[in-house]
Amino acid sequence: MEDGVGGTSGRDWAQPDLHLDLARALDRACFDFVLMEDSSFVPDSFGGSMDYYLERAMRASKNDPMPLVPLMAQATKHLGIVPTISTSFYPPFLLARLMATLDLMTGGRVGCNFVTSTAARAAQNYGYDDHIEHDSRYAMADEFVEVCLKLWASWDADAIVMDRDRDRFVDPSKVRPIAHKGRFFTSRGPMNTAQPPQGHPVLVQAGSSPQGRQFGAHHMDVVIAAYSGVDQMREFCADLRRRLVQFGRDPRSCKIMFVTSPTLGETNAEARERYERKQIAANASPELVLARMAGLTDIDFSQYDIDAPLADFKTNGQQGTLKQFLAQGSTLREVARNYRYGLDHLHGTADSVAGQMAEIMEEVGGDGFILTGTLTRRYIAEIADGLTPALQDRGVVRTAYEHAQFRDNLMAF
Ligand SMILES: Cc1cc2nc3c(=O)[nH]c(=O)nc-3n(C[C@H](O)[C@H](O)[C@H](O)COP(=O)(O)O)c2cc1C
Repeated sequence: MEDGVGGTSGRDWAQPDLHLDLARALDRACFDFVLMEDSSFVPDSFGGSMDYYLERAMRASKNDPMPLVPLMAQATKHLGIVPTISTSFYPPFLLARLMATLDLMTGGRVGCNFVTSTAARAAQNYGYDDHIEHDSRYAMADEFVEVCLKLWASWDADAIVMDRDRDRFVDPSKVRPIAHKGRFFTSRGPMNTAQPPQGHPVLVQAGSSPQGRQFGAHHMDVVIAAYSGVDQMREFCADLRRRLVQFGRDPRSCKIMFVTSPTLGETNAEARERYERKQIAANASPELVLARMAGLTDIDFSQYDIDAPLADFKTNGQQGTLKQFLAQGSTLREVARNYRYGLDHLHGTADSVAGQMAEIMEEVGGDGFILTGTLTRRYIAEIADGLTPALQDRGVVRTAYEHAQFRDNLMAF
């Protein structure tokens, strides 16, 4: 679950309590995982100033998700916990060791959402003049994951022998350097901690450009996509499964999940009213959508006539997202009004929405949904205690976890 526009924005935003309530609720509801989105910059791409974003708490203030991982793990028993990291800014050794430690400490319950980061401002926070070019970022991300996988495998699973008789804690024959020298990274290895219990953490990513899809198909256990139409979702599934086969992988070895943010009500009429109210609010402020998109693409949409035909926009940021955005109309006002983030139009009673979700997933051939939305306790309760039991009644989600570790649960259902 990620923050929507406006962030969590409560008085206690810096405290972990809301996130811990979320984790407990999702664990009780037997979710696969909770994903914590992240970025590391304050945008100023809309109107050339940070004001618009800061005043609305868009992307800042935002804390690093990593410290929440052990806290959430302590509050839960089975839920997978997936922080986001940037392959453009983390050194692979640092990330591999951090995730191995977390996987060891949680008994195999962590994953990692790999993003390449999209903003020049983020790159400048890490010492670059500008951001690395989009396709090179994905080449870099691919090698980043390759180095991490080598590091996680640099200790055999049975390297720690704790053999008192032979006075040996680790069997040295089961630990070796990786000696990686590539195009972007060099790392000698081995890691200085044991192999993570899952072999490696669950690997997740959400890039939707051709390069993003290729990266996903090469390495990932989970790929997430945000499409607002069933045809696009079906095309994405077929394309990704084709790419998996090209990498010699079982097309079912990677779970494909789609973004949705349903609106629930006690009755269908109440849900429709809530949904329509959200639509009216969104249509009344197209600049909110344009500012959000400016933060993802580094394009200052405030400089363009909102009612003129669309210019030939190009981005070094989120290319897949920009492409979908611009396909929604012929002026900025139209695309802002028509823009949908994933399947955000589903509404009705819990039972009705559960039925729609089951039907769509059957039709597109995917593996599940990732639920997003502004994080509030009301939304958590609606999803975990309202929608989930309705999905369980239909037999389309689990009613109990079968395994101790995250990947085993993920692949079992
Ligand atoms: C559900 C979801 C979560 C995402 N989380 C993040 C995130 O936390 N940080 C980030 O920089 N990008 C995030 N992204 C953006 C993707 O990593 C990617 O940049 C985007 O989908 C555009 O694809 P492309 O980079 O292949 O053009 C997310 C995308 C989706 C659909």
